[in-house]
Amino acid sequence: MHKIFITGGCGFIGSHLTEYIYRKYKKSQIFVYDKITYAASVKNLDKIRKDRRVKIIKKDLNNYKSLEKFTKNTDILIHAAAESHVDNSFNLTNEFITTNVLGTKNVLDACKANNIKKIIHISTDEIYGEIHKSSFNEQSNFNPSNPYSSSKAAAEMIINGYIHSYKLPVIIIRANNIFGTRQHPEKLLPGSCWSLLKKKHFTLHGNGMQKRSFLYVEDFCKAIYLILQKGKLNEIYNIGSKFEYKNIDVFKIAAKENKLNFRKYVKYVKDRPFNDYRYSLNFNKIKKIGWKPTTKIEDKIFEINSWYKKNINRFKKR
Ligand SMILES: NC(=O)c1ccc[n+]([C@@H]2O[C@H](COP(=O)([O-])OP(=O)(O)OC[C@H]3O[C@@H](n4cnc5c(N)ncnc54)[C@H](O)[C@@H]3O)[C@@H](O)[C@H]2O)c1
Repeated sequence: MHKIFITGGCGFIGSHLTEYIYRKYKKSQIFVYDKITYAASVKNLDKIRKDRRVKIIKKDLNNYKSLEKFTKNTDILIHAAAESHVDNSFNLTNEFITTNVLGTKNVLDACKANNIKKIIHISTDEIYGEIHKSSFNEQSNFNPSNPYSSSKAAAEMIINGYIHSYKLPVIIIRANNIFGTRQHPEKLLPGSCWSLLKKKHFTLHGNGMQKRSFLYVEDFCKAIYLILQKGKLNEIYNIGSKFEYKNIDVFKIAAKENKLNFRKYVKYVKDRPFNDYRYSLNFNKIKKIGWKPTTKIEDKIFEINSWYKKNINRFKKR
């Protein structure tokens, strides 16, 4: 029986990915290793967590001894745990470096110690920084502009060192903004739904004209599954979306779904010290092996908004 080990599996992306992997690898044992921060919940795995194939370990990435112990006999490791919210990273730089950089190094050391044969590291489009026109491909340079994206870029540099020094079999994934249910309302789309459902103002940075491409979480899971089958070790894959929105447009979609006038509920606040204008990925490489995104925000807004209505009290603040 395969053992698949997923860090951050109680978070937004990690929980969808854990369910997806559980459905696809029907005979595998799935270990979720997660500190379960304010952004996560074991409830995210309610559909599967009682199955004997699933084991949830509530531990920190920085507890190396337990990481090494629980990763023994792992066949595939997917590293999705991270501090993930840019706004928090301005004041909590230590936490971001500790989890995203040192935590990733611990994951790599555990993989090395246990001779794990396939490691998928989830990174972000933000490591490339902003781009006004066209898109970044996998060879483009790093230009991170905030402590979150620099911690993710630093983690990738450590991985690069481990690939060269220890021949560690890692595949790096760089993804666009991902949307779906279970994401903490600190992020744009869930925050829009959550505030509107509570009839509270939602704050947008600057003029709300920054552009982001949005990738549906199920499309993302399909891409990871394909990479597990056909991806080449020690390669990088951009997983992008062609569905691009201004931040204000995302809020408008949520307001329309809630039949509210967006003007009444939006509050513009001073922009971040530096706010990337636009992120964009060229994802021809993964297209060539048979993947493309299919779902845009408008297709799922009803489902997502309804989920937040039902789970409005699930989230606590950091
Ligand atoms: N959400 C996006 O749009 C997006 C886009 C591209 C890449 N990513 C990357 O995808 C991954 C998952 O992001 P997400 O949006 O699901 O974030 P999230 O904040 O919802 O989940 C992160 C998970 O990591 C866990 N975690 C945090 N610190 C930990 C620690 N020290 N030890 C163990 N577990 C810890 C949390 O408890 C949580 O379950 C991250 O690596 C993020 O950088 C996210």
